[in-house]
Amino acid sequence: MRVFKGEVTTLPPDKSISHRAALIGALSEGITEITNFSGGFDNQSTLGVLQGAGISLRQEEMQGAFGRPMRRVVMESRGLWSFQPPESPLMCNNSGSTMRMFAGILAAQPFASELVGDSSLMKRPMKRVADPLRLMGAGVELSQSGTAPIRIQGTKEIKPIEYLLPVPSAQVKSLVAFAALHADGESRIIEPVRSRDHTEVMLGLESFESEGKRVIVVPGRKTIEAKPFYIPADPSAACFIVALGLLARGSEIIIRDVCLNPTRAAFLDILLEAGAGLSIENQRVIGGESIGDILVRNKAGLDPLVISDPQVVAFAIDEIPMLAVLSAFATGQFELHNAAELRTKESDRIDALVVNLQRLGFECEQYPDGFMVKSRMRTPSGTVVIESFDDHRIAMSFAIAGKATGSALDITDINVVGVSFPNFFELLEGLEA
Ligand code: S3P
Repeated sequence: MRVFKGEVTTLPPDKSISHRAALIGALSEGITEITNFSGGFDNQSTLGVLQGAGISLRQEEMQGAFGRPMRRVVMESRGLWSFQPPESPLMCNNSGSTMRMFAGILAAQPFASELVGDSSLMKRPMKRVADPLRLMGAGVELSQSGTAPIRIQGTKEIKPIEYLLPVPSAQVKSLVAFAALHADGESRIIEPVRSRDHTEVMLGLESFESEGKRVIVVPGRKTIEAKPFYIPADPSAACFIVALGLLARGSEIIIRDVCLNPTRAAFLDILLEAGAGLSIENQRVIGGESIGDILVRNKAGLDPLVISDPQVVAFAIDEIPMLAVLSAFATGQFELHNAAELRTKESDRIDALVVNLQRLGFECEQYPDGFMVKSRMRTPSGTVVIESFDDHRIAMSFAIAGKATGSALDITDINVVGVSFPNFFELLEGLEA
């Protein structure tokens, strides 16, 4: 049995906040300095599309706290309409956040543009992007099946909107907000189920509750002054290390400077409720985001995880693959409902989890909005091939289970971890006691 111990100071910077810092920097007037920008492929894709649309920026290496290397991005922009017509389609690679959120900005620019991605991204639903942007007056064309390429005919006359979000999606909320920043009048975005709120926090948008729904107010054509951003460590990456500590007997790990924004930290509440040995230390606020250290102490007696509240699902959406695999390995059981959105991620994550858990001998039942792990029928003797489905979170969830339990797993296309966590294996090695 392996034991993992130590201090984690090199977790990737938060992917969601990195994307937004770059996009908001490009919409701002002046020089934006982003400290601790993520080197993950997805965030690099956002910098790539910004450059492809005429934004000039540079990345520098710098020394951060604990002597760790950090990345700084510096960009200069002239406000909401600083973009240039791209010479060729803008390549978003695997990054749905890049494609969707940048579409909101491009819809409000007075030129035509096209967004494309890798084979996984070209299969993901984009009607949710086209619908609000068309209502706001932009021309948006998709493939017949409602996927990318997204061809946009932008307009400087983008209209304000009152938009009820049809899916709990922070990407859709953000793309509407980014387009609405250019409109001649105030917009309102209404969330029946809340999603991560980094865009609101970083832009300082007002929001309030009305009839059980969240209403976000976006002022139109207001100058955004450039300001510095600091990116805390990614809680979605921390979740993998937390699971490692909870699965491997005798482990004790402290993870530093993690973003603990409540719209991202539901996985910690789910685990605490199930009796996990976790605590939060050194909690503070930087740049409007709550940050702290997560201490994981392995202890016996984790209850099987059951996730069904739609709000909890939305606040833990990216952590569900790891929670499912953790619960299956630790307790033999897991249950998930109200999570159909998981089928629209980098892979159909419900199917990807079930297929791989079955290969590992777990009895599973799949339904449209979730799945259940009932028991472990057998423990395979040889090496099990795990299909990553080109999905970083699927690959990492099973890699953690393999490492913690000493199971022999052969994970296909393992380099996909670089999408969000380029130093994943290096970091795990450093923790092995
Ligand atoms: C993200 C929102 C979520 C999440 C994704 C990142 C964001 O997607 O799954 O990894 O940064 O806004 P949806 O908006 O599709 O729910």
